Amino acid sequence: EKGTYPHFMLKEIDEQPFVMRRIIQEYQDERDNLKLDEDVQRAMMACDRIYIIAAGTSYHAGLVGKQFLEKMAGIPVEVHVASEFSYNMPLLSEKPLFVFISQSGETADSRSVLVKMKEMGHPALTITNVPGSTLSREADFTLHLHAGPEIAVASTKAYTAQIAVLAILAVGTARAKGLELDFDPMQELAIAANAMEVLTDQKEAIEALVRENLGTTRNAFFIGRSTDYFVCLEGALKLKEISYVQAEGFAGGELKHGTIALIEKGTPVIALATQENVNYSIRSNVQEVVARGANDMIFSMKGLEQDTDAFVLPRVHELLTPLASAVPMQLLAYYAALHRDCDVDKPRNLAKSVTVE
Ligand code: F6R
Repeated sequence: EKGTYPHFMLKEIDEQPFVMRRIIQEYQDERDNLKLDEDVQRAMMACDRIYIIAAGTSYHAGLVGKQFLEKMAGIPVEVHVASEFSYNMPLLSEKPLFVFISQSGETADSRSVLVKMKEMGHPALTITNVPGSTLSREADFTLHLHAGPEIAVASTKAYTAQIAVLAILAVGTARAKGLELDFDPMQELAIAANAMEVLTDQKEAIEALVRENLGTTRNAFFIGRSTDYFVCLEGALKLKEISYVQAEGFAGGELKHGTIALIEKGTPVIALATQENVNYSIRSNVQEVVARGANDMIFSMKGLEQDTDAFVLPRVHELLTPLASAVPMQLLAYYAALHRDCDVDKPRNLAKSVTVE
């Protein structure tokens, strides 16, 4: 039920702070310590490399998850687009663990990899919003996203839930391995939930940005570096799938190797600047496109902001910035679609779960 909301997508965007808090609760024991299924812990400890397999938005969450697992748990990770995996199957490590990320748990491209890997005898973990789903039943272990049903075709709350659960998986594994973290992950997730709540209350500011900058544009670029780049891929996907604006996410440093040729007077360029270590370099990339006439919109984080930024996000832990930056990206797409009279919840040519290969 969408209640008083005009669209499921807007409702689901707004639910994200609550989903975060539910995830924190579900993955905590009575003493507020992080709780990760022991079988999952054992599988994580036993593997020498993780292969994340997913499609679309879930693939984008996987890119963020790789950072968590490598930086916090010290396990090498590869992230693969499910539909491409069988053609370019990498040389597998001795003890691989396959992690399938899928909101629906029904994506055929992911399932076909799962079936093959099970035949080869490799262990598999599914991270899904639907525990009884095919990918959940056919894997050895499941982690639940606890996001509640996602009805809008464009995935929003499942994406941030995937990122949060991947963070919990990384932290739980780090703990099991006796690795020390220099921050309290549950507290940082709670801070991120609060930031998401602040952000969902800033709809008018985002709608105004859309009105001023994305009203009639036919294309748009999203640029970022490091983790911001992965959120740019997701921001671009959201915008194209529901508003039909041709949008692409690029790594800030890669623009000059070709893509910058597309920048003309007025081309909207959305830049994410939420990471201290890349703040300087992404801003110089923005200068490069502005010099060619681009219409820039910088989304920065408190503490890193400059006067000309379009929007400043509340501060969250540097590993968790996607949880915050995803929200204005989703809202940009939502309002762009709304202002173009697009069918927000049911974009053309798309289905909620893609059960064909
Ligand atoms: C985009 C979107 C799709 C899905 C993809 C995978 O908003 O929803 O890109 O993320 O089809 O679906 P799941 O996660 O169900 O495997």
